Amino acid sequence: MAAKTDGNPNAPFDLIILGASGFTGKYVVREALKFLNTPSSPLKAIALAGRNSAKLTQTLQWATRSNNPPPIPILPADTTDPPSLRRLCTQTKLILNCVGPFRLYGEPVVAACAETGCDYLDICGEPEFMERIEAKYHDKATETGSLVISACGFDSIPAELGLMFNSRQWVAPSVLNQVEAYLSLESEKRIVGNFGTFESAVLGVANAKQLQELRRSRPRRARPVIPGPPPSKGPTIEHQKKVGLWAVRLPSADSIVVRRTLAALTENPHGLPGSNESAEMVEKRAAFWSSLRPAHFGVKIGSKSLLGIFRFIAVGLFFGLFGSNAFGRWLLLKFPSVFSLGWFRKKGPSEEEVESATFKMWFVGHGFSNENLASQGNSKPDMEIITRVMGPEIGYLTTPIILIQCALILLSQRENLPKGGSFPPGIVFGPTNLQERLQQNGISFDVISKSTLSS
Ligand SMILES: NC(=O)c1ccc[n+]([C@@H]2O[C@H](COP(=O)([O-])OP(=O)(O)OC[C@H]3O[C@@H](n4cnc5c(N)ncnc54)[C@H](OP(=O)(O)O)[C@@H]3O)[C@@H](O)[C@H]2O)c1
Repeated sequence: MAAKTDGNPNAPFDLIILGASGFTGKYVVREALKFLNTPSSPLKAIALAGRNSAKLTQTLQWATRSNNPPPIPILPADTTDPPSLRRLCTQTKLILNCVGPFRLYGEPVVAACAETGCDYLDICGEPEFMERIEAKYHDKATETGSLVISACGFDSIPAELGLMFNSRQWVAPSVLNQVEAYLSLESEKRIVGNFGTFESAVLGVANAKQLQELRRSRPRRARPVIPGPPPSKGPTIEHQKKVGLWAVRLPSADSIVVRRTLAALTENPHGLPGSNESAEMVEKRAAFWSSLRPAHFGVKIGSKSLLGIFRFIAVGLFFGLFGSNAFGRWLLLKFPSVFSLGWFRKKGPSEEEVESATFKMWFVGHGFSNENLASQGNSKPDMEIITRVMGPEIGYLTTPIILIQCALILLSQRENLPKGGSFPPGIVFGPTNLQERLQQNGISFDVISKSTLSS
C-alpha cells in the first residue's frame, strides 16, 4: 500500500467508533452525537462498528433516546478478523477504539490503522499495551501517516494536562521539583465501575512482568533534568491536610504516561512538529513547551476517612495476591464485586450512579523560589502551588468528553499534529486547545493556592 500523509483525508467517515456497544462505547456515542453536524464542528459523518449489529442498534437507540434513531451506519468489525478492521480503516479518517481489555483485543486494530494510514485514538489504561504498540508500530505508523495515540480517556489526560497546568504556574526564578496528584472520587450514590475496566486492571497485574521485559529490550529513553534533589518516598499512608485527604499510591497508568511524555519532550525540546503547520504554530508550540518545567510526578488515591484508605489497601492486596496466578485471576474475574469491595460490578453502574459521581484531582507542586536554592544538595522546597482538575464521573462521562474533544482536535487541526507515529497524548495535545475545550465541556482547571513553605 502506498504511503500516505496526514491520516486518511478522503475517507467517507470522519470517525468510526469501534466497540460502540460496550458500556463505555455507548457513552462515547452519546457524546459524539452532541457534535455531529453542529455549526463549526468537523464531525459530518460518523459510523458505529462492532461484532453485533443488534447491540449496536440498541446503543444508537439508547444514545439518542429514540426508537427511530438517525441513520448512522453500522459496520461489521471483529478484532479477530483483520480484513474487517482494514475495511473499516479505508472508510474513515479516524478510529476511536473502545474495545477492551486492550491487551486482548487492541493490537489488531492498531496494526490495521498503522498499515492503512488511518488515525487511531483509544481509552486504554494498560501501560503494557501502550508501550508494546509504540515499540511495534511507531515506525510503520510514521511511514503511512497514521497517528496512533493511546490513553485518551480519564487515563491519562487529566494527569497529563493537570501536571502541565501546575507546571506552567511556576514563573522564573522559581523552579518546580515535584508534583503529587491526589485523586478523590465523590458521589451521593455508590461509586461503581464496569467489569471491562476491572478485567483490564486484573490483566495489567498479570502483565507486569512482560512490561519489565519489554522495557529491558528497548533503548533507554531520555530523562528530563529536574532542578533539586529527588523527593523522598514518604509514608505509605499520607495525611495530606492541605487537600483534606488520606492517601495511598495509586498504581494507575498516569505516572507512566506522564513519564513517556516527559521523555518525548526531553528528546524533542520544542515538541513534535506538525505535518504542515504554519510558522505561527511552530512559534506557539515552541513557546508552550518552553513554559513547561518537568517534575517528579506521582498519583495517589485519596479518601476523607482513614477507613476509606484501608478499603483501597485491601483491594490492592487482593489484586497483588490473586492477580499474578491463573487461579487467582479466575477468582477475581468471577467475583469482581467481592474482591473490589463493591467498586466494580458485572453489569456496571446505573445511569443515576454515573450522573451523581464526580472527581477532583489535586496537584500539589513543590519547588524552589530560585534555582540556586535548588542546586544546594540538602535544601528543601520552599514553595508550594496547588492546582485542581475537577469534572464529572471518570469512566463514562469524563472519558467520553476527553476522547471526543481529542477527536475533534485531530479532525480540525490535523496539519498541526505529527504526520504519523505512536505517542502518549500529552506530547501531541499539550500545545493544542484541549484544556480550553475540556473546560468548555465541564472539566475545570483551577489554581487553588500559591504559598511559601516555612522550613
Ligand atoms: N481510560 C479510562 O479511563 C477508561 C474509562 C472507561 C473504560 N476504559 C477501558 O475501556 C475498555 C472497555 O471497557 P467497557 O467497560 O466499556 O467494556 P465492555 O462493556 O465489556 O465493552 C467491550 C466492547 O468491546 C467489544 N468487543 C469485545 N470483543 C470484541 C471483538 N473480538 N471484536 C470487536 N469488538 C469486541 C464488545 O462488543 P460486544 O458488545 O459485541 O460484546 C463491547 O462493545 C476497557 O479496557 C476499560 O478499561 C478506560
